[in-house]
Amino acid sequence: MNSVIKGFIFDLDGVLTDTAEYHFRGWKQLADELDIPFTRESNEALRGIPRRESLMLILQGREFPEEQILEMMDRKNRYYLEFIRGITPRDLLPGAREILEEIRVAGLKSALGSASKNAVEVIERLGIADLLDAIADGNSVKLQKPAPDLFLYAAAQLGLDPSTCVVVEDAAAGIQAAQAGGFASIGLGPSERVGMADLVLPSLQGVQLNDLLARLGVSDAG
Ligand code: BG6
Ligand code: MG
Repeated sequence: MNSVIKGFIFDLDGVLTDTAEYHFRGWKQLADELDIPFTRESNEALRGIPRRESLMLILQGREFPEEQILEMMDRKNRYYLEFIRGITPRDLLPGAREILEEIRVAGLKSALGSASKNAVEVIERLGIADLLDAIADGNSVKLQKPAPDLFLYAAAQLGLDPSTCVVVEDAAAGIQAAQAGGFASIGLGPSERVGMADLVLPSLQGVQLNDLLARLGVSDAG
């Protein structure tokens, strides 16, 4: 890779904050109530996946009328909303605020690229809304990850070409979406999950912008 980077697109759940755990707990509570087996391991396939598709993966072919499907999605979301009510700036994952601030100081752009319909509430509770130049969330596009549409929407909101943006993701579906859209990608987490990213890191803790760009083999626009 040898391009100039002008912007970053951050996934939210599992990247900037640990709401991935809250999504898991919400689904787990619903699955327990339905008496359907659901484990942390099976939850891995749900990272980055929209609400309805997540439920379909949990139901594994069990059929229900649409009305009940909607009720189940709503029930899980009510559990999730209870969890996120307690979010404060202290729930930002280590290094998240620091990298957003460094990007801002360097004159680059940042956008959110999250499949969640609750993303705006979460970033407001985290106190980082003013560090993001654009928001792409579960309401922005029809086709969600692994389709590239959400990240393409985010790049367009920033006024940037995908080839000049880096996507930061914790989900396999998110890295696939980044690659399908022509973005550079950073995968956070185990390589079994995000190993196909251009750069794999355990988290954003201690991460510095120049180091990231150097390891991606790109430079910044400044
Ligand atoms: C993604 C999460 O960010 O958002 C998924 O990784 C979640 O786990 C998806 O299902 C949709 O979120 P919500 O808040 O709209 O149900
Ligand atoms: Mg995520």
